[in-house]
Amino acid sequence: MCGIIGISSNKPVSANIMNSLKKLEYRGYDSAGIATLSDGNINEVKSEGRVENLEKNFDLKVLSGNIGIGHVRWATHGVPNSINAHPHSSENVSVVHNGIIENSTLLKKHLTNQGHKFKSQTDTEVIVHLITENLKSFELQEAITKTLKQLHGSFALGVIFKDKPDLIVGARRGSPLAVGYGPNENYLGSDSYALKSMTNKITYLEDGEFCIIKKDEVNFFNNKGKKINKKILELTSKEESYDKGDFKHFMAKEIEEQPVTLKTGIKEYINNINNDINIYNFPWKIEEINSITLIGCGTAYHSCLMAKYWFEELTSLDVNIDIASEFRYRKNRFKSDTLYVFVSQSGETADTYAALDICNKNKMKTCAVVNVIESSIARDSNFVLPIHCGPEIGVASTKAFLGQILVLYILAIKLGSLRNEIENKVYQDKIKDLKNLPTLIEKTLLIDNDIQSIASTFNEAKGSMFLGRGFSYPIALEGALKLKELSYVHAEGYPAGEMKHGPLALIEEGMPVVVLAPRDSYYKKTISNMQEVVARGAKVLLITNKSTDEVLSENIWETIEVESTNDDLLPFLLTIPLQKLAYYSALKKGYDIDKPRNLAKSVTVE
Ligand code: F6R
Repeated sequence: MCGIIGISSNKPVSANIMNSLKKLEYRGYDSAGIATLSDGNINEVKSEGRVENLEKNFDLKVLSGNIGIGHVRWATHGVPNSINAHPHSSENVSVVHNGIIENSTLLKKHLTNQGHKFKSQTDTEVIVHLITENLKSFELQEAITKTLKQLHGSFALGVIFKDKPDLIVGARRGSPLAVGYGPNENYLGSDSYALKSMTNKITYLEDGEFCIIKKDEVNFFNNKGKKINKKILELTSKEESYDKGDFKHFMAKEIEEQPVTLKTGIKEYINNINNDINIYNFPWKIEEINSITLIGCGTAYHSCLMAKYWFEELTSLDVNIDIASEFRYRKNRFKSDTLYVFVSQSGETADTYAALDICNKNKMKTCAVVNVIESSIARDSNFVLPIHCGPEIGVASTKAFLGQILVLYILAIKLGSLRNEIENKVYQDKIKDLKNLPTLIEKTLLIDNDIQSIASTFNEAKGSMFLGRGFSYPIALEGALKLKELSYVHAEGYPAGEMKHGPLALIEEGMPVVVLAPRDSYYKKTISNMQEVVARGAKVLLITNKSTDEVLSENIWETIEVESTNDDLLPFLLTIPLQKLAYYSALKKGYDIDKPRNLAKSVTVE
């Protein structure tokens, strides 16, 4: 992951670099650093931990200079400390890097033999010394072209040079990088979000390209060092809210705003006048698609799994799902009648992008379901279905999950209708129910107090399980993921029917087990499975939906009832208590909810 920024200006840059680093923190928060050039010197400051540490530890006045680079790190090579923090510098060159240099050990050996001294445990430092070495024999452009050829792996780079006080070099292979244009200054950044407060004029570098940025000029080059022209894109200047408002954490705000984000998503896709779904400019004829493959990572993968149940229920399409990091290395049998759908909040996840790239190279039909419409995955897919959630800042995905499953559900009913596999009356009813979903979510969000007290039991336990069947199984997986990533409690999501095939051995007296048993077609089966864990001493938190029928089971520890709606939509409602359980459990432990340990919001390394 990691985030990089560079500014070349006619005025001091350190304050703007610091501000951009704060925006980039979602990409990594193990350490932060800045280097500027002034009076023929490279000035470097670095701190372990957050950008706020860097700000506290150093006075920006020591960082004079009209040109500089900055970095936030998510550690891959070397522990997170200030020595391994970027920028890394030699006498003459300073580098910030996002990605992984796969041949760094070999290069380090060569460079050490040539007399280069290394200070850190990072792979990045080899780039610094390689450029320094190549500059001994070549002019800048050639030295960069040669260096990039010698590097294996993925990178986005920002480089400054002591004896070239007016320029920054940027380079991209595998990791995203954007150039921004401002008045008397130009920028380099990992994404448009970091640059948005300074400019909405952006150029994205493609793999293999590099650029030289001066305050009044930007030049682009291909992988052979040949000058190329690139387009400037104007981004929407739509105001988006990046502050917490009255909430203690972004995650709390993002959970509570789900009725609004869902309403926006529904408004974007549903035509109220004729009660129909609008998916404009769909580039293929419906007869050209006979199967669908959904690909994502983490929470986005859970959205794919959720969608599989809906697509199978509402269409006769063959539906496959895949974890992107597995898909990219398997021998896939590509089929031209398959629609490949890439689900990603950030649109920058390296594994998901690589899977898309393979499909594009095989000339497949590709569709992105993303939150960030300017992202690499959106730009390189044939077709984009945005989830319209607004920025999600909390590292643990909440509103984007509901946004993803909303869009995938809408696509499933639309395809079911276009393929004449659901009757018009059913189609119309499902759309009507969908329009009511934000209100049901709003009501379900009121269950706060019950969850706060339940959360303590999960924190005291050695481990916990989340069980569900059918439509509730993907939600069980998502609930377990939320709990483990936020409160560092071991949590396992499982299909309830699978317990007796092994995991039942884990159940012991007092172990908290969440059972998702809405009153859908799986209800009776799930309740039987629940009784199997109750009988073995588990403390069961049953999450079901409101009904006049009592739950016929004894010894349930706690019950939470969400609102009732049609079976398809119950997964949306079941998600809410699980998001809150993870939130309150981390809150009680005093953990950093918006930035859980070892994680980052945008995973741009494989
Ligand atoms: C978990 C979480 C991650 C992401 C995953 C994919 O709360 O947020 O599991 O879902 O890293 O990220 P995107 O959706 O940006 O591709």
